[in-house]
Amino acid sequence: MSILLTGGAGYIGSHTLTELINGGYDAVVMDNFSNSSPKALERVEELTGKKIRYYEADISDRNALEKIFSENDIREVINFASLKAVGESVEKPWEYYNNNIGGTLTLLDVMRRHGAKNFVFSSSATVYGDPAVIPITEECPKGTCTNPYGWTKWMLEQILIDMQKADNEWNMVILRYFNPIGAHPSGRIGENPNGRPNNLMPFITQVAVGKLPELGVFGNDYDTPDGTGVRDYLHVVDLARAHVKAIDKLRENPGCFICNLGTGQGYSVMELIKTFEEVNGVKIPYSIKPRRAGDIATCYCSPEKAEKELNWKAQFGIAEMCRDSWNWQKNNPDGY
Ligand code: NAD
Ligand code: UFG
Repeated sequence: MSILLTGGAGYIGSHTLTELINGGYDAVVMDNFSNSSPKALERVEELTGKKIRYYEADISDRNALEKIFSENDIREVINFASLKAVGESVEKPWEYYNNNIGGTLTLLDVMRRHGAKNFVFSSSATVYGDPAVIPITEECPKGTCTNPYGWTKWMLEQILIDMQKADNEWNMVILRYFNPIGAHPSGRIGENPNGRPNNLMPFITQVAVGKLPELGVFGNDYDTPDGTGVRDYLHVVDLARAHVKAIDKLRENPGCFICNLGTGQGYSVMELIKTFEEVNGVKIPYSIKPRRAGDIATCYCSPEKAEKELNWKAQFGIAEMCRDSWNWQKNNPDGY
């Protein structure tokens, strides 16, 4: 019995693959490598000592999916495959809706044809929009997204909920990630963005390694303690381990289970820069820039449901996140 990881060569997928294999689970990967490299899978082989079975294939490709499902005994799927660049999604909405929603619908159809009705979905805190309450609990109503990427998560959540309601053989675990950063402590796998990074931590590490001259801090006039944006950063290895728990959860036939994944602690942009500098002994030149369109002031979660019902709690703190992000970047300045 194997777990299929779509997008399993990506940042979160490769860490999850490592944790699953180390936990004794059997996994098979499919990825079209649109935002990743097969080298990540070689590194996972190195870390786990196990050969990785993988298919270079797209989740929109029904024939490829049929082949994967007929060659493997797959009962559960973790669907990481998605385009995820917020700005690009505004420029290319069709591509985002087609890849993320169209692709996932094809995947779900092939899954049900093969009686594999257990699904873990990578959702995002972005579905809360500008959150009505802080810390954000799962009861907090979904909000208005500011970009097509966010809407793909918002809409797919609804699709999964409706499918499970109509057919209770389905089990859907919807995980709303807050801000994953960090890398495997070995420094062998990590985040490898194409081109100029959009997110804060990869930008910081690229400044630290000298690939970018300085960081722009997007706004210092938010209603937060130091005026800069506050987020709930979590270590990618903790996040990966939450997916192992999600598989265990699926095996209890939960129906539809929705859960936030974060530490419950908010840190500002300035706090992250300061911690990164202190922990790693490097300077991050920065300057204050205007606010970025669509950004909110504060976003952190209540991690209580994850602790009580998923039996998961983040173990790593912000210092370890900064240490491991830098360890990855300095050992792999050009990624894989
Ligand atoms: P990533 O880009 O590193 O990984 C996604 C992987 O999916 C890549 O390897 C890419 O090549 C692959 N992929 C994309 N479209 C595909 C398709 N049609 N068929 C097959 N493979 C395809 O991104 P990540 O950070 O590892 O994110 C994983 C998931 O988590 C995504 O669904 C993302 O939207 C979600 N998520 C990420 C964050 C974050 O901050 N990283 C936050 C919330 C949610
Ligand atoms: N920031 C900067 N400079 C940068 C990049 C970011 O100051 O160069 C600031 C932002 O303004 C924000 C904070 O750093 O205050 C974090 O920004 P990120 O882009 O790293 O993360 P976001 O919280 O904006 O968005 C991320 C993902 C989204 C996802 C969301 C919620 O990019 O896809 O988390 O999970 F939807």
